[in-house]
Amino acid sequence: MKRICVETEIFETGNPGELSADDQELIKIALKAAGSSWSPYSGFAVGAAVRLEDGNIVSGCNVENAAFPSGICAEHNALSSASASFPGVAPVVIAVTAMKAGVQVSLPVSPCGKCRQIIAEEESRYKRPVRIIMAGSSKVTIIEKGSDLLPLLFSHKDLSPDLR
Ligand code: THU
Repeated sequence: MKRICVETEIFETGNPGELSADDQELIKIALKAAGSSWSPYSGFAVGAAVRLEDGNIVSGCNVENAAFPSGICAEHNALSSASASFPGVAPVVIAVTAMKAGVQVSLPVSPCGKCRQIIAEEESRYKRPVRIIMAGSSKVTIIEKGSDLLPLLFSHKDLSPDLR
């Protein structure tokens, strides 16, 4: 049996003010999007903002449903909107944050498994990495490539394993 180790580079800061102006702007837009969240069931209002390769920014929020699985996450919402509004334009960075009772959470918000899969699909579709900025008010975590958050992800290769 072979042992394989996966290494993930994670950047973290306790001082969001040290981020680039572009990254801080994206977090601000994600926070604003959280203000549009419909999340009466969890009380967790998530916002995401995607910067595209052409400079456009598209945001999204979580939209919950009384039939719980019908809800959509903020990242999924933002990336789907970007895909519909700017077809063929690659997303390069996504920022995600959340609010509870109208106040930004202090710790970084990490994309759920389904959102990681969705981000990884964008990377495979456009053949370029998507940086993820996971933001809280007092700590921000960044990874340079979404698929780093999802080792052994399911991909198009799994659909036609003979072609690998
Ligand atoms: N949520 C997101 O919007 N993004 C994530 O990556 C994690 C979870 C939402 C789903 C649900 O509306 C609420 O947060 C609580 O799970």
